[in-house]
Amino acid sequence: RNRQHQLRMQQLIDTFPLFAQVDEHAQEELLLLFKPKSASPGERIIRIGDRGDGMYFIASGAVEVQLDSEPVRLEPGAFFGEMALLSGGRRTADVVAIDFCEFLVLDRRDFNVFMSRHPTLRAAVSTMARERAEMNTLR
Ligand code: CMP
Repeated sequence: RNRQHQLRMQQLIDTFPLFAQVDEHAQEELLLLFKPKSASPGERIIRIGDRGDGMYFIASGAVEVQLDSEPVRLEPGAFFGEMALLSGGRRTADVVAIDFCEFLVLDRRDFNVFMSRHPTLRAAVSTMARERAEMNTLR
């Protein structure tokens, strides 16, 4: 296995603590599934009410989740877009780039297959989604 590959894996895990929980095989699988995507400041990445097409991991830049009350800022290492994929429902908020951003995107189909095969990761993502939903109803 080449050194560059190893480095990319390590970088991925360093940026996204979430992936430290899955085994090496699963990490490699993720690297193959991720699609790169970028956005410019002001660009809306997710529109409230849309169907969920993918889950986004922030590799660089920052986004703002535009909630009714105060916006929430997410930075490298964070993810978003998991809620509509888990629920099968609609996007719960607009998400807008506030910087030049680079994302790794797991599209809906890959998300479903991958999460069903890696229940530990699914549980971690679900916990985060539940906490966010709770936070939104309390505000
Ligand atoms: P989804 O509903 O698919 O699209 C909007 C996303 O915003 C949502 O998934 C979450 O990833 C994110 N989001 C919603 N509420 C919060 C919150 N309180 N804190 C951080 N992110 C949030």
